[in-house]
Amino acid sequence: RNPEKERLLEAYELSAKLYHYLLKNTEHGTEAMKYLRSRGMSDKMIDQFQIGYAPDRWDTLVQFLTKRSFDLKEMEKGGLLSARHEQEGYLDRFRGRIMFPIHDRSGKVIAFAGRILGDGQPKYLNSPETLLFNKSRTLYNLHQAKTSIRKLRQILLFEGYGDVISSWEAGLQNGVATMGTSLTENQVAIMKSMAEEVVVIYDGDRAGMAAAMKVIPMLEGAGLRVKIALVSEGQDPDEYIRKFGAERFRHVVETAVSTTKFKLIYLKKNHILLEEDGKIAYTKEALPIIAALHSSTEREVYLRELSSELNLSYESLKQDCNLLRQSMQ
Ligand code: CTP
Ligand code: MN
Ligand code: MN
Ligand code: MN
Ligand code: MN
Repeated sequence: RNPEKERLLEAYELSAKLYHYLLKNTEHGTEAMKYLRSRGMSDKMIDQFQIGYAPDRWDTLVQFLTKRSFDLKEMEKGGLLSARHEQEGYLDRFRGRIMFPIHDRSGKVIAFAGRILGDGQPKYLNSPETLLFNKSRTLYNLHQAKTSIRKLRQILLFEGYGDVISSWEAGLQNGVATMGTSLTENQVAIMKSMAEEVVVIYDGDRAGMAAAMKVIPMLEGAGLRVKIALVSEGQDPDEYIRKFGAERFRHVVETAVSTTKFKLIYLKKNHILLEEDGKIAYTKEALPIIAALHSSTEREVYLRELSSELNLSYESLKQDCNLLRQSMQ
């Protein structure tokens, strides 16, 4: 038992309740509520994810914690308060932000992410690493998703909070998020201990696709089956659900593609296939990916696709593929 840790856990739990209450039941939360509604956030999801609001004042939490006899220095170390610059004393770390509590696997609040209303920097202000919070070992929403994950033996992996929340409302309750940072081996190990399959559902932009390319070898390396959901260009899953609805989103998840297919799609984006140069360059990048597949059936499937897509003979592609395989051995 660590008394400092337990005090901090209590402070986080109480703060989450306070922020949630301020958002829903007081005038402080009116503007934030309006903002959340304009983004399509329902009351049900606000409750389910315990979303709150930290008023745009210096001392909401300072006063609240003082009244409850918490040691403010400890609370500063714990990431809830900041030390004043010019004078002694403390002020709230989170001000004028929508508060997303981050829970550990058992459901205890261990950190916050605070989103600014509208535009502004930084978009998200996160709790620092503390006695409670180790970002690289945490997956957002794992405490709620674990039931569905165990049942389905499948995890949906997102980039952001809003993606997890909208997906939950769309009926998919096995979603977790890495909270913007790159996936860590620790997070992979946690996923491997709970599921057999991961569907990666990152933003449908270049950055999202590049991030997906990076997590594929990590997840497959741990022995997880991996699929990639293709969210349309320039959108994140949250925006996709708002625009096209739950049913179409579930279809996108159900029709997630194999990692080989995804790699080919990703590479293809760099080439103009109408030009001979582009065609050849793409083929040169695509063949090693296909050649690395162990199953000859799988190789044939992708070679035939490539053949019809590029209007090249299956035989010559297969020949080049086999040459590559020989050189790989
Ligand atoms: N993130 C962060 N700090 C930032 C930007 C992003 O921690 N300054 C993390 C958050 O966990 C965020 C995720 O990265 O949810 C994905 O980033 P982004 O796509 O930019 O944010 P969204 O979640 O889509 O937020 P919103 O829809 O409110 O713009
Ligand atoms: Mn509630
Ligand atoms: Mn993004
Ligand atoms: Mn996003
Ligand atoms: Mn978003």
